[in-house]
Amino acid sequence: MKFTQFLLKNSSIPKQALVDRFSKFSPSPLSMKQFIDFGSANACEKTSFVFLRQELPVRLANIMKEIDFLPDKLLSTPSLQLLQSWYATSLMEIVGFLEKEPDDKKILKKFTETLVNIRNRHNNVVTTMAQGVVEYKDAFGSDPVTNQNVQYFLDRFYMSRISTRMIMNQHSLIFDGSANPAHPKHIGTIDPDCDVTEVVKDAFDSSKMLCEQYYLTSPEIDLTQVNAKGPDQPLRIVYVPSHLYHMLFELFKNAMRATVETHEMALHLPPVKVRVSLGSEDLTIKISDRGGGVPLRKIERLFSYMYSTAPSPVDIDNSRNAPLAGFGYGLPISRLYAKYFQGDLQLYSMEGYGTSAVIYLKALSSESVERLPVYNQSAIRHYQMSNEADDWCMPSKDPKKLGKYERRS
Ligand SMILES: Nc1ncnc2c1ncn2[C@@H]1O[C@H](COP(=O)(O)OP(=O)(O)O)[C@@H](O)[C@H]1O
Ligand SMILES: [Mg+2]
Repeated sequence: MKFTQFLLKNSSIPKQALVDRFSKFSPSPLSMKQFIDFGSANACEKTSFVFLRQELPVRLANIMKEIDFLPDKLLSTPSLQLLQSWYATSLMEIVGFLEKEPDDKKILKKFTETLVNIRNRHNNVVTTMAQGVVEYKDAFGSDPVTNQNVQYFLDRFYMSRISTRMIMNQHSLIFDGSANPAHPKHIGTIDPDCDVTEVVKDAFDSSKMLCEQYYLTSPEIDLTQVNAKGPDQPLRIVYVPSHLYHMLFELFKNAMRATVETHEMALHLPPVKVRVSLGSEDLTIKISDRGGGVPLRKIERLFSYMYSTAPSPVDIDNSRNAPLAGFGYGLPISRLYAKYFQGDLQLYSMEGYGTSAVIYLKALSSESVERLPVYNQSAIRHYQMSNEADDWCMPSKDPKKLGKYERRS
């Protein structure tokens, strides 16, 4: 049954029934090509409207179903209550358009306004969620099972948010009737000719400025690029420059902070090395610092939401003197941006020396397709499975006590 028919038949369905109903549909991932087509010369606002009024409720409902698997004590925090109310309100607002006439210009205008409102309503989702997690952790502590579930959930939750913001932004930017004067060739947030090295330089400069404000010194950049398709050609891909900038800015802040703090006494700071290369499949950016590195045991933890510190007011209002470190979401969120279009972000470290962070992006726009969570049996199994015992032996805490009569309990 079509959504519209379903809604016309049931005009007074309670919210939960709507969530149940829409969560039964899988989200439809869009490719870069589809994003570009939606915004090209023959862009059709009506088509985009008809797509979004069903796709947005599907994406929202899919992730709302997973919120229910969080620990009850986390769900009952004021932060999580507030957050769930935002999701419910936004879902209802979009569903309200299902019965509306797509040929009516006023409806289309109202829809764009609604999208902008929704985007603003959800501006503080990340910090609100982070506050909820910190409140929970302070009150009840954190165990490996909860940590694993929260990690699994938040990676999916924030990815879902990146995706809904992307599709809402595309629609409102493309159809608000005004071109982007600074970047006439951009299609919404997408640059079909994104010069990666330019974005690297921009992000480095902003991070350098922040670093100098805070530490009164900062390392230089040592940048090289290799284009397998032709030497000296600029490295261009179809990408969302703001996403790329976000990842690079976070990685540069980390690299600079580590460099400055491990070379406090030195007269000369080792530069941050950046290598960009474009092959037939991958566009790869490697950022290497000599900031002392991180032991392997701790690497996974750097991507953990639960092991992070509390979001401080400084991070929230993004004040001018903001230090180089935030509340520990820089790496996990940057990795999500990379994964969103089928890339990745990995950290390789040599303790005692330094760290390399590598961003992998798809070189071909045909392979840049949204990576979206879907609510299904495998997702449910994930939340339920983690109570089982580990399938690798735990080293004994006190090996001397182990005699030959030791038995398994
Ligand atoms: N290049 C690096 N060298 C050394 N430590 C790093 C590096 N990048 C990240 N880290 C460590 O990982 C932690 C988490 O980084 P991040 O997610 O960006 O959060 P934040 O910078 O807000 O603490 C940092 O606090 C730092 O201890
Ligand atoms: Mg950081």
